[in-house]
Amino acid sequence: MEREKFYITTPIYYPSSDLHIGHAYTTVAADAISRFKRQLGSDVYFLTGTDEHGQKIQRKAQEAGQEPIEFVDEVVSKIKYLWDRLYISNDDFIRTTEDRHKEVVQKIFKDIYDKGDIYKDYYEGWYCVQCEAFWSQRQLKEEQGCPDCKRPTEWVKEESYFFRMSKYADRLLDYIEKNPDFIQPSSRRNEMISFIKSGLEDLCVSRTTFDWGIPVSFDDKHVVYVWFDALTNYITAVGYGQDNEKFDRYWPADVHLVGKEIVRFHTVIWPIILMAAGIELPKKVFGHGWLVLESGKMSKSKGNVIDPLILIDKYGVDAVRYYLLREVAFGSDGYYSEEALVNRINSDLANDLGNLLSRTVAMIDKYFEGTIPEPKETEDIDEELKKLAAETKTETEKAMEKLEFSTALASIWKFVSRSNKYIDETTPWILAKEESGRPRLQTVLYNLAEALRIITVLISAHLPLAPLKIRRQLGIAKESDLLTWESISTWGALPAGVQISKGEPIFPRIDTTKDKKETKKESAEEKEGKKAKKGSKEQEEGIVTIDEFKKMDFRVAKVLEAQRVPKAEKLLKLKVDVGDKVRQIVSGIAPFYQPEELVGMRIIVLVNLKPAKIFGLESQGMLLAASNEDDSHLTLATTDKDIKSGYPLT
Ligand code: MSP
Repeated sequence: MEREKFYITTPIYYPSSDLHIGHAYTTVAADAISRFKRQLGSDVYFLTGTDEHGQKIQRKAQEAGQEPIEFVDEVVSKIKYLWDRLYISNDDFIRTTEDRHKEVVQKIFKDIYDKGDIYKDYYEGWYCVQCEAFWSQRQLKEEQGCPDCKRPTEWVKEESYFFRMSKYADRLLDYIEKNPDFIQPSSRRNEMISFIKSGLEDLCVSRTTFDWGIPVSFDDKHVVYVWFDALTNYITAVGYGQDNEKFDRYWPADVHLVGKEIVRFHTVIWPIILMAAGIELPKKVFGHGWLVLESGKMSKSKGNVIDPLILIDKYGVDAVRYYLLREVAFGSDGYYSEEALVNRINSDLANDLGNLLSRTVAMIDKYFEGTIPEPKETEDIDEELKKLAAETKTETEKAMEKLEFSTALASIWKFVSRSNKYIDETTPWILAKEESGRPRLQTVLYNLAEALRIITVLISAHLPLAPLKIRRQLGIAKESDLLTWESISTWGALPAGVQISKGEPIFPRIDTTKDKKETKKESAEEKEGKKAKKGSKEQEEGIVTIDEFKKMDFRVAKVLEAQRVPKAEKLLKLKVDVGDKVRQIVSGIAPFYQPEELVGMRIIVLVNLKPAKIFGLESQGMLLAASNEDDSHLTLATTDKDIKSGYPLT
């Protein structure tokens, strides 16, 4: 059977400054739904990217004394880094400065012009550079500020190409009425219907007073208006006019996720561009609410933006994602506060889920020497737990289909709480006292382990790291058939007899009294003072002297050969030239490198490490690599310039 395709997009972000938690919100939501659809077996295409042209970016670059492309390159690399840290699983990242996009924009602009729906005229009116939006006097009312961002607008008077939007108003209204799902949630749909009914004016779709944009192919004094350029990204990425097979596969998009202030661009301008070009319309535009602070909207000028990277460093990626998806109903506005984030960590993650895991593995460890027991005697209460597991699966599916992330997580956490309550009700510590309690104890602990396995599947779309941490402790990290959505349809897929591996708490509680102190910025004097107070012994801990460092013989080594180790899927056997001789190194890097790509590489090796036997093979040194928290990414340390093998590191 052919897999269902699912094409989802985020807005493409302006690389005018670093992104904040509000931007992360949209992308994390898109990631959660993408991961969920992949779990269901869909062929997902998840697109995000950057909207790099326009007056706003050009001015920002000027202020920074840089060329626009240099300026955006820097911000874009930071955006990509942020998405990496948030474990965003996008399939494509589009930049509007790429050639593939320029071609499509020029083509579609010309096509619409040839059909007569783009014409040349003169624009005179107001423009908001921040929102890159044109406003009529009627829309501005008295105050002249932008109706969206409230910043001052500028008077613009220039020759422009216009897009005959007015011609399509009735067709668009008809489409919206016939497709009730097209604009979601329904409150936004009603807003848009009244907006269109109040009358559509033709839209100015080119600018001449600056040049940071895609030139109109037949009149290069003009650059294409940035929203016309930006919206087109959604078809560029799936190969419009360039890869018909891909385009036919993924277009129309299943959902464009956007913030509420840009619903108008996506449900009025974008569908009319598509209608004029003779392209099918997207199936759904979902306008989510805003994350705001007690002090109002986040903005650079107010200096109140929340940096997601700081939160990830402080609380971990799972906690940040959980909070974003759980705290606020997706369509509505909601308040962000660090206090609420810490509360969620302590109550839902540490107390509920974290404790369920530690209690379960501790009891399996204590009563069954770490082996998951086989279920024996059952009671009604077990059936209740199993029934709730099945219901949770269905509810999660329903909620995720409607993009109700918070409802999905609330329902999963109801099951987490039920499982904790199951421990209190079945009192395993009392069952353990008598030999006659053993058969029942076996069932209880098996059920708890199975409940945890089911939870790992349910939360996989939302939390990228915790599921693996839990499965490691349950001893089923590698059993991929136990991770599928299908595997939670029936209770009891977890095999008994598996050896668990008790570990650290996966969500340590945040000490709120201590945390407050740490968040407060320390002055340099405070820091110095603290350092001086530390005892010398403490200072020595974790610190190496230069003599100790000198004992370690790190060398640049050229990889001469690399081979897989039969029956050890993670290991590679390397022959490396360390200057004076060739050494054999066995290392667990097979998931990250193909043997052939290593040959010729210059890596860094610690050569005077005591040789060790790995899988029966002698390893005469250790190579250096960097990897992330859960070992899902790894990169070898190399040298940035060509240098002879054997050179020591100094
Ligand atoms: N470049 C345009 C989008 C073009 S799409 C063809 C743009 N970029 S943006 O960087 O300003 O905003 C991108 C998204 O971030 C929007 O959906 C916006 O709603 C979202 N958010 C920005 N701040 C936000 C919050 N504080 N809360 C939630 N989302 C917010 O618009």
